Amino acid sequence: MDIAGIAQTRYTTKAFDPSRTIPASLMAQLRTVLRLSPSSVNSQPWHFVVAASSGAKERIAKAMQGPYAYNEPKVLNASHVVVLCGKAALDDAHLEAIVAQENRDGRFLAPENMATQDKSRRFYVNLHRDEWKDERTWIDRQVYLALGTLLLAAGAVGVDACTMEGFDGDALDAELGLSRRSLRPLVVVALGYRAADDFNAGLPKSRLPEDVVLTEL
Ligand SMILES: Cc1cc2nc3c(=O)[nH]c(=O)nc-3n(C[C@H](O)[C@H](O)[C@H](O)COP(=O)(O)O)c2cc1C
Repeated sequence: MDIAGIAQTRYTTKAFDPSRTIPASLMAQLRTVLRLSPSSVNSQPWHFVVAASSGAKERIAKAMQGPYAYNEPKVLNASHVVVLCGKAALDDAHLEAIVAQENRDGRFLAPENMATQDKSRRFYVNLHRDEWKDERTWIDRQVYLALGTLLLAAGAVGVDACTMEGFDGDALDAELGLSRRSLRPLVVVALGYRAADDFNAGLPKSRLPEDVVLTEL
């Protein structure tokens, strides 16, 4: 696999072909990629809301109004739209669910390893929450790892994507009832296939040169 080639050719799609739908089997793979994203201490502090029907996409588009209206057609014309949410906090119930899942998945070769793992995870959670006081930022970083993983994966399977931070978070929260579920909408990704007239498809990729962004020791 030419992974650098995929990084070069994937791009932010500004206009989607509304007649094309991502096959269910491919969408299932992308959902799996999201769920398998790595996160610090396996904290998985996220939830992904996926919209496929026109009605569901219209609900998300309610947050793309006013200064964000330029993003509305992307949401309406894409095949699928994913809202990547961060949890409000890493509470006890979530931490207990993670360690129980790790146990079910066979991660603990000796029974005492379960408590050790739980303690080590809580050390970092407490550090961010109580000492560094950056729990939300820490959570958000993990969600953006899932974003990056999704974007590269979509490029690898020939699915076009548009990432959007341009939306009204309060409007999206009101429409989807996210804060009632202790979730915060962080970033939205439209997935589908480019329209024939997407101006951005023909533009060259632009990035700072390697010697500016990378130091070899
Ligand atoms: C976190 C994030 C938020 C973005 N928000 C928007 C957005 O609201 N609308 C949009 O059209 N593009 C948005 N973009 C696309 C970026 O402008 C684009 O990724 C960047 O210019 C690099 O271009 P490329 O993705 O085509 O390589 C966003 C990208 C990221 C990673």
